[in-house]
Amino acid sequence: MTGFIPPYPHRPSKELGPLDTLKAVRRDLLSIWPEQSFSHKFSSTKILNRWIFIASSPETVKHVLVTQNSKYEKKSLLMRKALEPLLGNGLFISDGDIWHKHRAIETPLFGPKQVAKYADIMIKTTEERVREWSAIPAGATLDVLPQMGQLTAEIICLSLFGKHLGAKQATQIMQSFADYQAAIEQMDIATFFALPNWIPGLKLGKAHKSAKRIHDIVDNAIAKAANSANDHTLMGRLLSQLDDSGSGSMTAVQIRNELIVLFMAGHDPTANTLAWAWYLISQCPEVEQRLHQEVDSVLASRSAIFADYEKLVYTRAIIDETLRLYPPFPLLAREAIEEDQIGKRGIPKGSVMIVAPWLLHRHKLYWDKPDHFIPERFLPDAPVKPDKFVYIPYSAGPRVCLAKFFGSVEATLCLAILARHFRLTLPKGERVSHECRLTLRPKNNLPMQIVPR
Ligand code: HEM
Repeated sequence: MTGFIPPYPHRPSKELGPLDTLKAVRRDLLSIWPEQSFSHKFSSTKILNRWIFIASSPETVKHVLVTQNSKYEKKSLLMRKALEPLLGNGLFISDGDIWHKHRAIETPLFGPKQVAKYADIMIKTTEERVREWSAIPAGATLDVLPQMGQLTAEIICLSLFGKHLGAKQATQIMQSFADYQAAIEQMDIATFFALPNWIPGLKLGKAHKSAKRIHDIVDNAIAKAANSANDHTLMGRLLSQLDDSGSGSMTAVQIRNELIVLFMAGHDPTANTLAWAWYLISQCPEVEQRLHQEVDSVLASRSAIFADYEKLVYTRAIIDETLRLYPPFPLLAREAIEEDQIGKRGIPKGSVMIVAPWLLHRHKLYWDKPDHFIPERFLPDAPVKPDKFVYIPYSAGPRVCLAKFFGSVEATLCLAILARHFRLTLPKGERVSHECRLTLRPKNNLPMQIVPR
């Protein structure tokens, strides 16, 4: 068990007033929470006439995400303004009937049997990365966050499009996506709180251009794939639902939007998780040693297979603990579309409801040593099991991550295969901190030295 406390954002000594909250939010969405927030079960504040509630206990989280889920929509203005040009009415930001219909179509694409097939892509792509890293001088420094970003983007691109997207278009899509993200990240993060009419003049021109490039590439791939039979890619399986008559399943534009959602949601969080995991492991020799023992014994000198996921118990625990400390989506915002009541508290229609993995995962009432890095708490024989409404890196309820299992298998296999061959060490004097925009990730790309084992 480690005594390592990885860095976390500054915690103000007392609750900030509404204006100070807004100012702080512009700097960093995670540095507004005072120490007390990590022991509150339910709290509220009023900013510019809008109530903001924070659900921070298993009961209130279950209420918002599960039992009274239909009263809360994902209408966050930030999400919509930021993502609509790219995703249209795609799953990640849609609500109501469209969401229900598309979710029902897409859920079976990510069942265990399907994920087992995509595991081959995860393994081959990571082995390719092993070959690339083997060719660079020992001890060379690489930016780990973009490295993990390319790896997971390649995996999702191949799973989605297979051979229908050439290497050139795949690179273009990744680049355009990075451009898109950079453009929307200039947005005022205060709009996360869904304040009405608070969206300042967004510089969405660049974002629109990148979105158009991505739309064109995906439209082309769809046109090519539309004629091929027995296509087992995710695109092929969605195309079997194609119906432009309007009566049936999905139109070509809806399929394109869903493919882009899957590309976007399908690489960024896993890349951030892997990058944080490398950092955490590098700071804890005993964790690194236990990881090496496991990957050496499970993988020995053969290629990984899907069935190894079950056996890589400690590797999985490292990923789970990384997701606890640095959840890629640290704050989940919802808008109350009708009145509600939580305990004795009335929730007016139009309020913002925040469920914050950031607070829940480090909550003083629900975790022992909440800020320590302790993978052992996720081992099957751990004495206390995390509550399923306190540990929610993939959210919970009907809007739970569509590809929770895919993400977990991918992060575990990628980490195990790379750790079988390499150690990653932090250069002396390098300080790691976080950056939180749409997702939480290490700041400055996380340069680390790659050392062959
Ligand atoms: C470690 C990896 C991942 C984590 C931690 C993660 C986490 C999450 C979370 C927290 C949400 C809910 C967001 C909210 O309610 O605001 C979500 C939704 C979603 N995720 Fe993931 N995700 C991961 C990997 C993936 C992958 C690999 C894919 C696709 C291949 C994916 C596809 C989606 C989609 C489509 C949604 C929207 C679901 C809906 O609204 O019905 N995710 N994810």
